[in-house]
Amino acid sequence: MADDVIIRPACFGDLTEINSIYNYYVAHSTCVWTTQPCSDNERKTWYEEHGQSMPVWVADHHGRVVGWGALGSFRAAYTAAGVLEDSIYVRHDFHRRGIGSRLLQTLIDSARSLGLRSILANISADQTPSIRLHEKFGFQKVAHLRDVGQKFDQRLDAVYMQLLLANNQSAASNPDTVEIAQMAALRIGF
Ligand SMILES: CC(C)(COP(=O)(O)OP(=O)(O)OC[C@H]1O[C@@H](n2cnc3c(N)ncnc32)[C@H](O)[C@@H]1OP(=O)(O)O)[C@@H](O)C(=O)NCCC(=O)NCCS
Repeated sequence: MADDVIIRPACFGDLTEINSIYNYYVAHSTCVWTTQPCSDNERKTWYEEHGQSMPVWVADHHGRVVGWGALGSFRAAYTAAGVLEDSIYVRHDFHRRGIGSRLLQTLIDSARSLGLRSILANISADQTPSIRLHEKFGFQKVAHLRDVGQKFDQRLDAVYMQLLLANNQSAASNPDTVEIAQMAALRIGF
C-alpha cells in the first residue's frame, strides 16, 4: 500500500505527467489500441472538455504524478443518460501498490456524488490486471466483442464491464474523496 501517495483532483500543471504515463502505454501495451501518442495540445483539450462533470484525479507521490483516473464520455447519448466511462493509468513502475484501487474507488465515489447511473469500462480482453481490478470493485462483464482490434500484429477482443450505481449514496467512507461537488466547482490551475 502506497501510504505516501495522495489522490487529488488534477490540475493544469499535471497534464504533461498525465500524458507521459498514457503515452508509455501507447508505445508498450495493448491496454490502449492506438499507436498515436497524445500530443500536449490534445491533452489540454481533453482536460478542458472534462470540465466539472467529468472529474480527473491524480495519484501524487511527493509532488510527482504516478497515476491518474478520469470519468469521460463513452457516447453522447449514454452521457446524457448518466453513464460515463472510466480510465485509469498507473505508472508502469508503480504497479501493485494499491494506487489503481484508490483511483478507481475515487472515481466510483465521484460518480455517486454526481448522481450517475453507471460506469462503463472498455478493456482489451488480454488486459488481466485491468479486468481483475474492475472485478474487485464489483464491475460485471456485460459484453465480449471478438476480433475488433489490432496492435503489435496481434488481433484483439474487447471486454465491456459495468458497475450499476443503484444505491446512489454519499462516498464519505473513502478518505481520498474530498468534497467532490465542491471540487467539481473549482478549476484548479486555470
Ligand atoms: C490496471 C492498473 C490500473 C492496476 O493498477 P495497480 O495500481 O497496479 O492496481 P492495484 O495495486 O490497486 O491492484 C488492484 C487489483 O488489480 C488486480 N491486479 C493488478 N495488477 C494485476 C496483475 N498484474 N495481474 C492480475 N491482477 C492484477 C488485482 O485484483 C489487484 O488486487 P489485489 O492486489 O488485491 O490482488 C495498472 O496495471 C495499469 O495502469 N495498467 C495499464 C493501464 C491500464 O490497463 N489501465 C486500464 C485501462 S481503463
